[in-house]
Amino acid sequence: MKSVFIGCGAYLPQRSLSNAELAKTVDTSDEWIVARTGISNRHIAADGELTSDLAYNAAVEALAAAGMAATELDLIVLATATPDETFPATATTVQARLGVAGIPAFDVQAVCSGFIYALAVADNFIKAGQARNVLVIGAETFSRILDWEDRTTCVLFGDGAGAVVLRAEATNGDAGTAQRGIMSTHLHADGRHHDMLYVDGGPSSTGTAGFLRMRGKEVFRHAVGNLASVVGEALEANNLDADAIDWLVPHQANQRIIDHTVKKLKLPSEKVVLTVARHGNTSAASVPLALNEAVSDGRIKQGDVILMEAMGGGFTWGAVLARW
Ligand code: UT7
Repeated sequence: MKSVFIGCGAYLPQRSLSNAELAKTVDTSDEWIVARTGISNRHIAADGELTSDLAYNAAVEALAAAGMAATELDLIVLATATPDETFPATATTVQARLGVAGIPAFDVQAVCSGFIYALAVADNFIKAGQARNVLVIGAETFSRILDWEDRTTCVLFGDGAGAVVLRAEATNGDAGTAQRGIMSTHLHADGRHHDMLYVDGGPSSTGTAGFLRMRGKEVFRHAVGNLASVVGEALEANNLDADAIDWLVPHQANQRIIDHTVKKLKLPSEKVVLTVARHGNTSAASVPLALNEAVSDGRIKQGDVILMEAMGGGFTWGAVLARW
């Protein structure tokens, strides 16, 4: 069995927050943020708008694009580090709103690598024959865990959601589907680096939600190294050269991190999907948001080879190579 992408969707909260607006509340500037990160704008969830609301909207769009009724789903996997509540899983809230009681639904927590992890989990359910139609969502409201007085972090992140629908197709099937779908997934973690990127709260430690804390320079250095290594691993596992990649859909944390990966792969910049300038870092939502944009505007076409990658707190990192 192969996991074939049959639809995607996304949702961004209406309110957008520019660098200029941020510069009115913290000691920063549009010049600094653009030069160091490539970010100009990010979206911020409205009061009372929850991660599950963003996720639900993206899911509805993905199901419509797939031409699939929610009742045909047999698994929901939702990647988030900003769940509505400590429990139940935000995936179950989305499930209830979709009206599909009974099927398994759970969250995956790998911070910015969450969507890559969730895709790998879904792919393994499909390959094991335990699911046929899977909804995979990445959704975050990082605005709720930012210290809005800390200029070193609050300028970097935004809110949003993206979703895809995967369908199991027999590798010996007809209609060319055997050639499409996820080719391989590659996951890594190294918990020794907890203190470089974490939230200083939680139900078991402080009893509060806490705020995101990051040692940006160290995270940057590890991100560049780990992403270079995992994209190489994904290509090698499939006996492919970087020329085989039609689209790189990277995690959108920092334009300069993406530039390093592009340089390592020697990819022409036209093959890179970029949303970081407009969305900032939306953590687990960033890859599916970028994917949806390039599919919707017709850049990614059926049969294209796409390489997705991400790195985040934990550290966690990973890549998925697929044929759209
Ligand atoms: O999703 C994965 C998680 N996150 C990441 O991948 C982020 C990885 N890290 C980064 O993207 C970069 O390290 C940052 C964008 C966070 C920071 O860029 P940098 O080039 O590493 O800057 P820096 O932290 O070394 O700071 C340089 C200077 C410092 O001032 P001094 O000490 O040189 O006087 C900072 O205090 O810039 C200052 N600074 C700012 N200035 C204006 C830090 N944040 C700001 C700001 N506005 N927002």
